[in-house]
Amino acid sequence: MSTIAISEAEFLALRDSIRERFGIFYDDTKQFLLQSRLQTRLLKTRMQDFHSYHRFLTTAPDREAEWGELASVLCNNETYFFRERAQLEVLVTDVLDEALKSGRRLRIWSSACSTGEEPFTIAMMLMETRRIAPAAIALKATDLSPRALEKASTGFYRELSFRATPPEMVQKYFRPFEGGFFINDEIKRMAEFSRMNLLDARSVATMGVHDAIFCRNVLIYFDKPTQKRVVEAFAGALRPGGYLFLGHAESIMRLTDLYEPVVTAKAIYYRRK
Ligand SMILES: C[S@@+](CC[C@H](N)C(=O)[O-])C[C@H]1O[C@@H](n2cnc3c(N)ncnc32)[C@H](O)[C@@H]1O
Repeated sequence: MSTIAISEAEFLALRDSIRERFGIFYDDTKQFLLQSRLQTRLLKTRMQDFHSYHRFLTTAPDREAEWGELASVLCNNETYFFRERAQLEVLVTDVLDEALKSGRRLRIWSSACSTGEEPFTIAMMLMETRRIAPAAIALKATDLSPRALEKASTGFYRELSFRATPPEMVQKYFRPFEGGFFINDEIKRMAEFSRMNLLDARSVATMGVHDAIFCRNVLIYFDKPTQKRVVEAFAGALRPGGYLFLGHAESIMRLTDLYEPVVTAKAIYYRRK
């Protein structure tokens, strides 16, 4: 199979449309990365070149379906159980304490959940505290990628997902099956998955108000104005004092004044003012 090459003009046109729709930004060094990620889409849509593919995406009557497919190939879906665990410790101490004191349900949103390891880790860690029942937890999990969500809904994982998982957690919450593991049904039922584009402010506004939002390892794919737009929209989906958890490599310190950064010895996170 020969590779179809992307010209600079095609690259610029496609990356602008992708940034506008999903926020994901391919800078000038990523021309060939985009070229390689889109090869399968050109084949599937039987387009001869990237110019035709871009025209298809912007004008074809059935373009929405193709945007859905594209969402699954644009981004790295890398994730694993118990990733950046120190932040999760804040969830099962401070965030949980405050929710229990208030008498309300604990409301959590894993907003770029990929294949589900993050929300399922949250569920396992909350169950480990033995301080709260599943019925007292509303755990939403959303992502842009239909493929990633499909995988999450199977609850089946292979070795790489367990690289940071304590063996006793595997023993307790998973069942071995043909070279991988199924997550147990109680944990699986706790997370409610749906598809969402974080740039879609209207959808974000319908999510309700949460005690904590996890948006880890996704802002790195966005440019600064998009990062600002997304985290400011989150402010409407967090209670005052609510917690925003980003990835280690992500900072919004100079981006917005809607949040107070909290820096501890082990974790950095943000609280809605
Ligand atoms: C590297 S994964 C991070 C997974 C998990 N949060 C973690 O930290 O392990 C990044 C995820 O962001 C999702 N994503 C990228 N752009 C998005 C957008 N505009 N709206 C929602 N999700 C998006 C991708 O589909 C991908 O699953």
